[in-house]
Amino acid sequence: MTDPLLSVRDLVSGYGSTRVLQGVNLDVDKGSVVTLIGRNGVGKTTTLRSILGSVKPTSGTVTFDGNDITELSPEKTAQAGIALVPEERRVFPGLTVRENVEIGRIGGRRDIEKPSVDEIIDEFENLARHHESRGANLSGGEQQMLAIARALVSAPDLLMLDEPTEGLAPSIVKQVQRKITELNDEGVTILLVEQNVQVALDAADYVYILDKGQVVHEGPADEVAESEEVLDRYLGVSLAE
Ligand SMILES: Nc1ncnc2c1ncn2[C@@H]1O[C@H](COP(=O)(O)OP(=O)(O)OP(=O)(O)O)[C@@H](O)[C@H]1O
Ligand SMILES: [Mg+2]
Repeated sequence: MTDPLLSVRDLVSGYGSTRVLQGVNLDVDKGSVVTLIGRNGVGKTTTLRSILGSVKPTSGTVTFDGNDITELSPEKTAQAGIALVPEERRVFPGLTVRENVEIGRIGGRRDIEKPSVDEIIDEFENLARHHESRGANLSGGEQQMLAIARALVSAPDLLMLDEPTEGLAPSIVKQVQRKITELNDEGVTILLVEQNVQVALDAADYVYILDKGQVVHEGPADEVAESEEVLDRYLGVSLAE
């Protein structure tokens, strides 16, 4: 067995005196897609922020590629090879598609040659047509693809996506899902936070369910998909046959 690419141990984290994560444990194997699901406000985004370093953990450890990155700033974490596609996309509305992607190229790994902005944009059909369009003029799906492109241009080993399908029409959800699978096939390891349980289970190799700042259930995606009682208890959903 090789060590996981990302390993989170007993992570306690929050905002000021509010403790949100109560000791989170999770592993992401190199080459896999892991999803983190759970109801609103249980700490999914806080988990990603604590891994990235934009929220400072109170205790616990985050190990990435064999190195302890718990105390690193987001800039240093990005240089180590982790990129986050944030909740609500955070595309710069006044900048063009190209300029948005250029910003992503500033950060990230320094020890390898990063792809060019054009190479990345050309991988996204629905962005290539809009090089010079401003972020504000893109559809929700295009903005999501742009947010992914901006993260990819840093050539991350681990891509973390926070609810990438939120608010998108079903056909666009499918496009995002296909993109995630395609990136994973190309060798990018993925940690995906998803509200859409069906997408989360379809995309994932392994699933963690978070409740009140703790992992309450975990398992291979096909097993979790079969666990009706677990899905109902922690997520309040039942999957249609
Ligand atoms: N910047 C912040 N300052 C203070 N409290 C925050 C902050 N961000 C989140 N919280 C609180 O931390 C808790 C966990 O929030 P978090 O955003 O991690 O949940 P989540 O699982 O991502 O939820 P959602 O599904 O709504 O995105 C919530 O109670 C939230 O109100
Ligand atoms: Mg969130």
